[in-house]
Amino acid sequence: MITTRHIYIGSDHAGYALKQYLLDAFKEKNFIDCGVYSDQLSNYALVAHDVALKVKNEPKSVGIIICGTGIGVSIAANRHPGIRAALCHNVDTAKTARLHNDANILALGARIVDEKTAFNCVKIFLDTPFEGGRHEERVSSIDYYGEKP
Ligand code: RB5
Repeated sequence: MITTRHIYIGSDHAGYALKQYLLDAFKEKNFIDCGVYSDQLSNYALVAHDVALKVKNEPKSVGIIICGTGIGVSIAANRHPGIRAALCHNVDTAKTARLHNDANILALGARIVDEKTAFNCVKIFLDTPFEGGRHEERVSSIDYYGEKP
């Protein structure tokens, strides 16, 4: 189990129902709901930026972001240095995202995964620690694609 300070969750309208399902399914974890708060049309990038900034400013926290495909939210969240948002479609990718990539945000596509798969992805994501070792340098290279500072 990673030491999670806070778990931030957000979605656009397409991910709203799945977000509500996950809030209920994991209610003992007290996820912090960053919206949206209805299925009215909304902008996936705005909620992705909000969750990404919260996670970035609180190093041990993690995020869950959901849109129709998971693609829009992951692209937006990954614009933030220090954010490693992993778009996962099954338990294997969610687990490896933690083990190898030290992902701090899980991105899900509500039109791609069913509730059970999403539940299992969230569970393994929260329960799996970063493996470290040979992955340390690779992960620390993600934000330094030019010369190292
Ligand atoms: C909304 O229709 C959809 O475009 C959005 O949820 C997401 O899939 C974008 O990547």
